[in-house]
Amino acid sequence: MANLLKAKLLRKSYKVSNNPFKERYLEVLKGVSFSINPGQTLAIVGESGSGKSTLARILVGAEKPDSGELLFNGNDILKNKHFAWYKDIRMVFQNPRTSFNPRATIAQILAESLLNAKADNSMQIKYKIAETLEMVGLRPEYADRYPHTFSGGQRQRIAIARALMLNPKIIVADEPVSALDVSVQAQIINLLLDLQEKLQLAYIFISHDLGLVQHFSDKVLVMNKGIQEEYGPVGQVFSQPQSQYTQKLLAASAGYKRKITE
Ligand SMILES: Nc1ncnc2c1ncn2[C@@H]1O[C@H](COP(=O)(O)OP(=O)(O)OP(=O)(O)O)[C@@H](O)[C@H]1O
Ligand SMILES: [Mg+2]
Repeated sequence: MANLLKAKLLRKSYKVSNNPFKERYLEVLKGVSFSINPGQTLAIVGESGSGKSTLARILVGAEKPDSGELLFNGNDILKNKHFAWYKDIRMVFQNPRTSFNPRATIAQILAESLLNAKADNSMQIKYKIAETLEMVGLRPEYADRYPHTFSGGQRQRIAIARALMLNPKIIVADEPVSALDVSVQAQIINLLLDLQEKLQLAYIFISHDLGLVQHFSDKVLVMNKGIQEEYGPVGQVFSQPQSQYTQKLLAASAGYKRKITE
């Protein structure tokens, strides 16, 4: 059976010089491949600038790769323009402060994704909003409030609710808890785990926190300046890292140090 999502040798470069006599390109992704199935979590790790967010943007259709394939349930979604995969792969961003329009109510923010997809009448929309807010542990009455009236953790719950509105199969979360207080981080991670179990969601989870990655993920993809250094089950990659880069990354992480001296 086909994987839920399979990426094959994705490549991306950006033009970094506009001088027509001396065009320069920066290769940000140099051939990235992975697969993920329902209910699984794939973590993407690597130093700053290694291409993680670029990969995330490609997965949600915000950017196009230069080459490579992306198969959703076996459908080539880069070639098949009519295939509405944007409903199935949704994004949650790092910073819950800047990711909302401050003049829109929570109801408007959540309804936006539905209206884009031309779905449902207004009663159904209201019901869906209430149901989704409850799913992320917020009260349905919050729908009438504005983003600035919520805490960082609550706002990240709203961001997750927004991602859930179209019943996606995959959520791409780009450092979803790194802007939050440690105690709030744990609550959001637990929420994500609950939702995963309930909805059989697959997560593509970008994080610098290797302790969290180890706890939260099934597979891990290690990126180094656009190169796929390593990819495999998280237990295997973390206990027997094959590349020097992964070894260094792990050694720099306090959680790992604690684990290997135990
Ligand atoms: N639109 C763009 N034009 C030119 N260069 C870009 C563009 N977007 C990203 N880059 C470059 O691509 C590289 C990878 O960036 P990316 O944001 O994917 O890294 P990252 O792994 O997410 O880093 P971080 O951990 O800091 O978030 C960086 O060198 C960045 O400057
Ligand atoms: Mg990034």
